Amino acid sequence: PTGTTIDAHGDLVLGGVRATELAARFGTPVDVLDEAQVRAACRAYRDALPGAEISYASKALLTRAVARWVTEEGCALDVCSAGEVAVAVRAGVPGERITLHGNAKTPDDLKAALRAGVGRIVIDSAGEIEQLAALVPGRQQVLIRVTPEVDAHTHTSITTGVADQKFGVLPSMLADVVRAVAARPNLALAGLHCHIGSQVRRPSDYETAARRMVALLAAVRDECGMTLGQLNLGGGQAVRYVTDDPEFDLAGYARRVTVAIAYECDRLRFPLPHLGIEPGRSIVARAGTTLYRVVSVKHGVRTFVAVDGGMSDNPRPALYGAPYTVRLVGRRSRTPDRRVAVVGRHCEAGDVLAGDVPLPGDVHPGDLLAVACTGAYHHSMASSYNLVGRPPLVAVGGGHANLLVRGETEDDLLARDVGA
Ligand code: LLP
Repeated sequence: PTGTTIDAHGDLVLGGVRATELAARFGTPVDVLDEAQVRAACRAYRDALPGAEISYASKALLTRAVARWVTEEGCALDVCSAGEVAVAVRAGVPGERITLHGNAKTPDDLKAALRAGVGRIVIDSAGEIEQLAALVPGRQQVLIRVTPEVDAHTHTSITTGVADQKFGVLPSMLADVVRAVAARPNLALAGLHCHIGSQVRRPSDYETAARRMVALLAAVRDECGMTLGQLNLGGGQAVRYVTDDPEFDLAGYARRVTVAIAYECDRLRFPLPHLGIEPGRSIVARAGTTLYRVVSVKHGVRTFVAVDGGMSDNPRPALYGAPYTVRLVGRRSRTPDRRVAVVGRHCEAGDVLAGDVPLPGDVHPGDLLAVACTGAYHHSMASSYNLVGRPPLVAVGGGHANLLVRGETEDDLLARDVGA
């Protein structure tokens, strides 16, 4: 059994395992990940874009098991730090299947990536070319990240395609950067890259980016005499956190992007490049569910239902105003008949997991709440604020639960405090 269902006792069943059982065995809060859903998301991309390289953006969530699942499903892996390189290597991902990103790659990041023999490194600025070239032992394939000047209509903190933000090279400066890379005999320029943002809802924004990027490939050919064979359009495909969110049209996205590329290539007489994309959130978000235990219920201006986690395991509402769906699980109850604020345990008024959600009026301390769609940018962005240990991450599937990352203990929290 896979997927998420509610059984006759009001219990949530995740990958065939009851939420009450998961909470009893692993404690709360606990991040639960449905392996079959992660694998299915990878396959959906492979089916939608046959022939394209689907590179999972591991910043969304990376453990050795997740790296193994996605690569077994035919995806490559994107990383952005020495730490992510280390997990990928320990998971047995072949170096040539890994791409390194970053607007400020440190020498340690670069050395770790080169040691792992990564397939590609994405150059983000003119300044890093010399530093990279000095470290490359043999020959390294690289892409150049460009700012395509496309607004992806998402939260400003995760808008990365517009001119005034920190990532990539402006189109007006691209030819110079291309020449600087070409002047380094140990760097092999393979193509261009862009990433317009995250939680991007409109496939048409990708279409615009695809057209601009093909035009830039043609401009590089015309101005620098180089015909580059790879085009990577980054990730960012939106997921549905709440019922008001639209469903991202994956088939429509794939169609629009491939048609736009083919049309522009034909118009500019440019050979069809090999397409790559880098979805992160849309591979893992839906597979995740977080279980919390209610600690207190307070009736004030609003009803505050406080749980045993909060902004340390889910900083997204505080950072982006991100909305979530919450449901009471583990027992039969009234239908949700009251609007409440589900808040965390941290010492800030902004520690609100969901400010206005329907829950049954009989919610009480000890109850179990499930927050949906927590697979992306939760575990990977968790902190130990207030010295609350980070929760465990548990994989479910086929009726079994399997601990992937254990919860952070007091000993873990104390281990780095070495200044007696
Ligand atoms: N490629 C590059 C170069 C990226 O920077 C990112 C995400 C991705 C791909 C994957 O984007 P995705 O498909 O996951 O949207 N912490 C934020 C999201 C930050 C995204 C950072 N870069 C959040 O929780 O909404």
